[in-house]
Amino acid sequence: MDLGIAGRVAIVTGGSRGIGRAAAERLCREGAHVAVCARGRDSLADVRRALEAMGAGRVLTVAADLTEPSAAGRVAEAAAAAWGRIDILVNNAGAARGLPFDELTHEGWLENLQLKLFGYLRMTREVLPHLRKNGWGRIVNIAGVAGLQPSPLAMPVGLNNAGILNVMKALADAEAANNILVTTVCPGPILTERQTTLLQDTARAKGISVEAAEREATAAIPLKRMGRPEEVADAVAFLASERASYITGSLVIVDGGLHRAMI
Ligand SMILES: NC(=O)c1ccc[n+]([C@@H]2O[C@H](COP(=O)([O-])OP(=O)(O)OC[C@H]3O[C@@H](n4cnc5c(N)ncnc54)[C@H](OP(=O)(O)O)[C@@H]3O)[C@@H](O)[C@H]2O)c1
Repeated sequence: MDLGIAGRVAIVTGGSRGIGRAAAERLCREGAHVAVCARGRDSLADVRRALEAMGAGRVLTVAADLTEPSAAGRVAEAAAAAWGRIDILVNNAGAARGLPFDELTHEGWLENLQLKLFGYLRMTREVLPHLRKNGWGRIVNIAGVAGLQPSPLAMPVGLNNAGILNVMKALADAEAANNILVTTVCPGPILTERQTTLLQDTARAKGISVEAAEREATAAIPLKRMGRPEEVADAVAFLASERASYITGSLVIVDGGLHRAMI
């Protein structure tokens, strides 16, 4: 299926590894211009090489720590300066911890919201004027099933994701008249570096080995395996595309059947 986004300009936050990198690759393969931001310069150089091989001149990497208030503006400016427009934002950079309630101070809660919830909001604020100018736009947010299914071992993760789901549903209403479609993807456990950290947190909280935590997590998934970043990226690319022109305010769950409810 031709997704109809060749020549569109996309920003993928946290696009140097994991789900973000897979999404950046997928959009690039569809012919989009792709700006990727993350902190680590080595992994940015690596993703730049990989993307350039798919689309020379259609790749931009920006080293940025999105917990810094000015970083989102810098990323948006760099993409707009390179290609004169922004059409698609994939909000993905996030790394909240799976800490139990007793270990979370007030500062700990704020710190865990800085990158994901507040980072998505800052990035969205910077990109929206560009999308409005086009009269066409897509904002695809990566939340997670912890936002739908609260867990005592993933409270900061759940708060970030629930906040994103709520705010982005409201934004979808607010921006519908501008032809800016806002959607959220909720992955279940996906095999990335972040998954390793989450399994370590779970193992520590439960007093079991990381291997046992992984076995437990996998056993709970109807498809009996964790997902691959590319499986999330396919959903992201579709939602970011022309083909998703009647989908806004929606939530798409990519979790191997883990979430036990109809929505
Ligand atoms: N993996 C899962 O099982 C899973 C499940 C549900 C939801 N999710 C969500 O999916 C998203 C991606 O997760 P992932 O598993 O792909 O993570 P990952 O493999 O750890 O990759 C995270 C990406 O974000 C970047 N990043 C981290 N901190 C940043 C910061 N302060 N500023 C800018 N970039 C930053 C990282 O690069 P640098 O470190 O170099 O900055 C990297 O490119 C997250 O929002 C996560 O909550 C993941």
